[in-house]
Amino acid sequence: MFVHQLKRTHYCGHLNKSHVNKEVILMGWVDTRRDHGSLIFIDLRDREGIIQVVLDPKKAETLAAKDLRSEYVLAVRGLVRERPAGMVNSKVKTGEIEVEALHCEILNSAETPPFQISDESVGEMLRLKYRYLDLRSPRLQNHLIIRHRVAQLVRKFLSDNHFLEIETPILFKSTPEGARDYLVPSRVNPGNFYALPQSPQILKQLLMISGYDRYFQIARCFRDEDLRADRQPEFSQIDIEMSFIDEEDVIDLNEKMLRLIWKEIKGVDVGAVPRMTYFEAMDKYGSDKPDTRFGMEIQDLKKIVTQSGFKVFDDVAARGGIVRGIAVPGGGSFSRGQMDKLTDLAKSAGAKGLVWIKSEADGTLTSPISKFFDKEKLNEIFQTVGATKGGAALVVADDYDVACAALSTLRLHLGKELKLIDTSKDKFLWVVDFPLLEYSPDDKRWVARHHPFTSPKNEHMDWMINKEESKFGQLLAKAYDLVCNGYEMGGGSIRIYRNDLQQAMFRTLGMSQEEAENKFGFFLEAFKYGAPPHGGIAWGMDRLVMLLCETDAIREVIAFPKTAKATDIMAEAPSPVSHDQLSEVGIRLK
Ligand code: AMO
Ligand code: AMP
Repeated sequence: MFVHQLKRTHYCGHLNKSHVNKEVILMGWVDTRRDHGSLIFIDLRDREGIIQVVLDPKKAETLAAKDLRSEYVLAVRGLVRERPAGMVNSKVKTGEIEVEALHCEILNSAETPPFQISDESVGEMLRLKYRYLDLRSPRLQNHLIIRHRVAQLVRKFLSDNHFLEIETPILFKSTPEGARDYLVPSRVNPGNFYALPQSPQILKQLLMISGYDRYFQIARCFRDEDLRADRQPEFSQIDIEMSFIDEEDVIDLNEKMLRLIWKEIKGVDVGAVPRMTYFEAMDKYGSDKPDTRFGMEIQDLKKIVTQSGFKVFDDVAARGGIVRGIAVPGGGSFSRGQMDKLTDLAKSAGAKGLVWIKSEADGTLTSPISKFFDKEKLNEIFQTVGATKGGAALVVADDYDVACAALSTLRLHLGKELKLIDTSKDKFLWVVDFPLLEYSPDDKRWVARHHPFTSPKNEHMDWMINKEESKFGQLLAKAYDLVCNGYEMGGGSIRIYRNDLQQAMFRTLGMSQEEAENKFGFFLEAFKYGAPPHGGIAWGMDRLVMLLCETDAIREVIAFPKTAKATDIMAEAPSPVSHDQLSEVGIRLK
């Protein structure tokens, strides 16, 4: 019998007690096989789940059962029945029933797979090499099904709110989002290159100038940057742009979408999302994407430690830096070795060192800096960071950004290590009022914190137009980030829509008129023909799904992800190309 003569009636995972005594036809893969001699039990797996099938190898119709092995592809016609008392498996959705096979057909055999699909202890490299096998696992099936549902929800929600889904090109020109571009040589224009878009930023703004009013796209973006667990070289954004709106409109709409997604996927009411300014977030948590599921907030110590005679603190204070600390509950029992590790961690985040004060079992305070401070002062520092008996205080002195980064790193590390994070709830936050620019000492120039199309606050626009460089560091942007559990899930801004302001922005970033013309001439030109006020946001689709799936690796929610070295180890990409192919596009390798 061939597959076209057997029409599947159900997915394995959809069967339940209501199907008892019904005849069904299933198609799937053999997950496991248990041979009880007279009867053979298999777990049959498809995309939707697993069902136990009982086969009698003595009957002609189910004779094939004898040869079954893992990952064989089967068609089974059978009768759904309740499992005998005592045989119910409450761990699986279909555990109350099983299918008694009336007919079994092997549609294809399989070699012994390099790992058991259900074995969760298999190393990730092997699983990535055989991604198509790992994708058979309930884990990844679930992730990709959630991803699909999110995409559908987003499309429906935005469409209902009058957004148009519009595709933009992948072969385009460099778009500035701060990473390196992936370049594609052009065969028909030798010596010229396309850049894959780091985001559709310019294109979606052009669509606003074209009058499309509300645009969205689930857009593929490409960034050649150092990878981390939450970053891929190609990733997807839920990219949104709208005209005639301000920050509140964007935040309000996106908060509605956020609530819808969490309600539909997790059954959770998100409620109103709190807001925090960039500087509040930095002061409290040392990060512009704080994990607000736990406290351990940063406290200021500058006032009480200045002119103490401890050179490290005094020098930092004198040059305008900060001295701040966090309290570690139970940290009093940390060993010297543990404190050294924390010091190394702080150093890895850029700090020059770490001061700790421990409350020993008898309540006395010990610290490597005890010789610089009297008992009372040491106690004052200890208490000001909020440490209590048996705890410890960790103190960093440095320039604002460095000290914040080090304390944030310590806070996140200890939050995890000491299990202070309440993982039962997701915590959201809008971070607003970002600085527009930041000074890059390496490039000796100002760079845009978000991107060069972000508008300064109205009251700061003139500083830029009038070239008041002393105020550039204080320029605030009409920018906002949506943060969840310490991840930047999305970010956007209200854009510059005046040609003079956009030119001033490019000039502020140290771009000559010629360079601006070369890179963005077409864009500046478009501003001359009636650009409406507009703004938008992009959500990291992969990060969003990662958070919904409660996993901390973005690879887990992408069908065919890349490794930390930006490679696909299944297909072996990237790979060398032939000499002919190179010469066709006019490229010679060094
Ligand atoms: P931004 O660069 O902040 O803004 O990107 C928006 C969101 O995309 C996600 N993201 C990533 N996800 C996975 N891997 C990466 N390498 C990666 N890089 C970014 C993040 C981030 O919040 N055009 C602007 C948006 C706008 O202004 O409307 C932009 O791209 O979740
Ligand atoms: P030192 O005088 O360099 O031996 O440092 C004395 C202590 O201060 C050591 O525990 C260092 O780790 C710590 N320390 C040094 N620099 C800093 C800094 N910038 N912030 C916090 N602690 C520091």
